[in-house]
Order: sequence, then structure tokens, then C-alpha cells
Amino acid sequence: MQLETDAIDRSHYPKHIAIIMDGNGRWAKKRFLPRFMGHIAGVKAVKRVVEFCDSQEIQVLTLFAFSSENWHRPKDEVSKLMDLFVGTLGKEINRLDKKNVRLRFIGERSAFSEKMQQQMAESECRTENNTGLTLVIAANYGGHRDITLAMQEIAKQVQRGDLQPEDINEDLIAAQLSIPDLPEPDLFIRTGGEKRVSNFLLWQLAYTEFHFTDKFWPDFNTETMQGAVDDFLTRQRRFGRTSEQLENSSETN
Ligand code: IPE
Ligand code: IPE
Ligand code: MG
Repeated sequence: MQLETDAIDRSHYPKHIAIIMDGNGRWAKKRFLPRFMGHIAGVKAVKRVVEFCDSQEIQVLTLFAFSSENWHRPKDEVSKLMDLFVGTLGKEINRLDKKNVRLRFIGERSAFSEKMQQQMAESECRTENNTGLTLVIAANYGGHRDITLAMQEIAKQVQRGDLQPEDINEDLIAAQLSIPDLPEPDLFIRTGGEKRVSNFLLWQLAYTEFHFTDKFWPDFNTETMQGAVDDFLTRQRRFGRTSEQLENSSETN
């Protein structure tokens, strides 16, 4: 009986959860600590959320780790964030691999140090055949940039004569963006109280359900993550249709 209930719940679960992990700095400030301590505490929250997604058989978790705009932060904070990124990846890759996690990175890597780029490529390569949770880390990622690069690629195809402008459609554009092979996010979570998208996955969030919470990212845990999923489970995703249409079609199914 219990097994049957679990199976029913899982079928409605989000396949892809995308998170803006915000509020590290304010979490630290509230404790009279340097901002960087907030980022360190944020790594622990990442581990908890990966654990949650793994145990709940979520297919994809995308985490916004560093935006293309975050370069505007003080140099010292940027450099400490880079060190934390390299250090955490180095420390965690064995555990992630053992957990059957497939790691991927989106965003422009050329801005990162050689060491970091190498580490990213190695960890992707090492985990590419894993079949568990796909963990996508957005680093130096910007939605505008993602779309711009896709447009450049499509323009080249038109220029070469491989593509006619009238053949450009949504599928073709989506195929040129980051993570074209993964389902679009079902659930978007932003911690830290701000209610904005901050240039995250602009195209892919077209029909995603949004969940905002005032909790700072370092305070995010299994319970708050479950709360976000429970909130998602109350939503009716209509994709332009009416409630009546959806209710009638579920009756006939
Ligand atoms: C998010 O927390 C982490 C990164 C952007 C790297 P913040 O550092 O933005 O924290 P707040 O918004 O200043 O509290
Ligand atoms: C968004 O958070 C980027 C990441 C979480 C990596 P920010 O804290 O940088 O967003 P804004 O600038 O306040 O919108
Ligand atoms: Mg912030």
C-alpha cells in the first residue's frame, strides 16, 4: 500500500528544479560575519538539496552559482568565490560520482582560470555516463548571453545557406541554447526574498512554476525544499488551456 502511494506522488513530482541560491551575504551580515562565511554556509545547503533531489528521484537540479553580472562584485569576493568553487568541486567530485550524479556546467567558461576550466571538463567527463541526478551548475551564466550566442549560431547557418530565415522556429532556437537535451524546469525556487529572475534561464522558464521564499540560502534544508515541492504540487499547470479542459481530459484518462 505504501509503495503504491509513493508511486502516485512521484508521478506528479517536478522532473527539473532550478534554484537561484540567494541570501548568502545577508545571512552572514545578520550574524556579524564576513559575507564570505555566508558562501561557505551556502555550500552546505547545496549538499542538503542535492541529497534531497537524489532521494526524491528528481531528474535534474540546476543551481545558479555565479551570474554573468556577479563579476561586478568586489574583486576580493569574486576571487574567494572562485577558490570556494574549485575547492568544493575537488572535494565533492568523488562523492557525487559514487552517488551516480551526472555533473554539467552551463555558462561561459573562458572567463575562468585554466585550472577551473580543466576541473570542470574533467568532472563532466568522469560523470557523463552516470544515470542518477543530473546536476547542472550555472557559472558565469546569463540568459541574455545564452540567447545571444544561440542567435549568432543561427545567423551563421543562414549565412552559409544551410538554413532559411523562415525555417527558424522555437525548437531550433531551443536546440542552440544551454541544456537543450534536458526537460525545461518545472519548478523555479528563489531564496533570499527577492522576487526576480536575475537573468537566469530566461527562455527555459517560460512555463515554469515559481516559488519564492524569504529564507536565506544557507538556511535552506530538506524541510524547506519539501515545502517548495509541496507548493508546486498544489499548482494546476494549464499551458494556456482552461481548468475545465484539464479536468475533463483527466477524467477520460
Ligand atoms: C547568492 O547570495 C550567492 C551568489 C550570488 C554567489 P548573495 O551573495 O547574493 O547574497 P545577498 O543577496 O547579498 O544576501
Ligand atoms: C543571482 O543572485 C545570481 C546567483 C544566485 C548566482 P544575485 O544576488 O546576484 O542577484 P541580484 O543581482 O540581486 O538580482
Ligand atoms: Mg544576492
